[in-house]
Amino acid sequence: MPHIKWTNDLSVGIQAIDIDHKLLISLINQLQDSIEEGLGDKTIGSVLNALLDYTFYHFGREELMMQVCGFPDLEQHKKIHEKLKENLLDIQNRFLGDHAAIEEKEILDFMNNWLTEHIKGTDAKYAPYMENKEGALEKANTEFTDQMAGDVT
Ligand SMILES: [Fe+2]
Ligand SMILES: [Fe+2]
Repeated sequence: MPHIKWTNDLSVGIQAIDIDHKLLISLINQLQDSIEEGLGDKTIGSVLNALLDYTFYHFGREELMMQVCGFPDLEQHKKIHEKLKENLLDIQNRFLGDHAAIEEKEILDFMNNWLTEHIKGTDAKYAPYMENKEGALEKANTEFTDQMAGDVT
């Protein structure tokens, strides 16, 4: 299965968010490599963990930035994030609980589609609302990063 490649049509025009999306793509590609190379459950499990952690972190950042720019469909977008979180946790639980309960193909098919579809179909909708709001978005982003760093320590 080919790797997901970053292309300009995936850009939402906001640097902090594009950086997150690129990182998520690279984690999905790492997950694919670890599965295809048969690296074993422990390695696959830890890449899957990192992917879920960063996805949830990214959703938090994105939701705050949508809020700051007054995006009117914030609640609907949050619901879509919640649904994706459920799907990702279900895949992770099935993988960690009983590896035989989930086909590796199912993991790869889901991972290879959800992010690019979500970026193009859902994230793209907030892009126009974030135009010309660099100052406010940067402030929100800094607050979010500081808050998350505080949570860890
Ligand atoms: Fe999103
Ligand atoms: Fe996103």
